[in-house]
Amino acid sequence: MKQIRLDKFLTDSGIGTRSEVKNLIKKGQIAVNGSIVKKSDIKIDATSDKVSYQGKELRYSEFHYYMLYKPAGVLSATEDKNQETVLDLLKGVSHKNLFPVGRLDKDTEGLLLITDDGALAHSLLSPKKHVDKTYYLIADGKVEAEDLTTLSEGVDIGEEKKTLPAKAKLISYDKAADRTELLLTIHEGKFHQVKRMMEAVGKPVLYLKRLSMGSLVLDEKLEKGCFRELTDEEISCLRQYKIQK
Ligand code: URA
Repeated sequence: MKQIRLDKFLTDSGIGTRSEVKNLIKKGQIAVNGSIVKKSDIKIDATSDKVSYQGKELRYSEFHYYMLYKPAGVLSATEDKNQETVLDLLKGVSHKNLFPVGRLDKDTEGLLLITDDGALAHSLLSPKKHVDKTYYLIADGKVEAEDLTTLSEGVDIGEEKKTLPAKAKLISYDKAADRTELLLTIHEGKFHQVKRMMEAVGKPVLYLKRLSMGSLVLDEKLEKGCFRELTDEEISCLRQYKIQK
């Protein structure tokens, strides 16, 4: 049983802002258990009452989770006076308090989780949890077997300690362009970590894309710059990180 105000239920369901949903209620577009209601402040049970808008039943959820395929050129921030942010790309989403879980550099592409679930974000970003992040990258030069060993054993990137062991997997080397394609899985999230690791082995990153974060994998069907809600299964897999110590 979860008693909440009808207008809060409606804003949490994502159909509009507080003033927009109040308007919808006034106009008689909202029904609770089949009857039109015209008062915003009535309390309903979010777990058992059936709320519908224009005849469609709404699903309540306290938190919201989106997968964004971040393109290059967009800031991983909630707002910026001059530049486009990842939240600007979530067109039509009106939930307050959304933020990106961790940052991708402006020129990095790929998977970005955007949510208003602070506790989940905290768990995913906690250095203690060592959540895996896998990146596809193109490096300048030929990444040799010894570079792969260095990357996987830990690299000195100018901090007190070396990076934690990572997984480095060679995809291919293009001799004509003198570039290497690589998959790199790291378990930390230090500032510019992948770029600094590749700099440390003398093969700077030319292109970087995040493919996964923990159990969450970038949906191949998602076009660059587009987003979708996470599925129930994706959400419940991510919630495991909240539970694990
Ligand atoms: N490592 C980087 O260097 N940049 C990113 O955007 C993500 C990881």
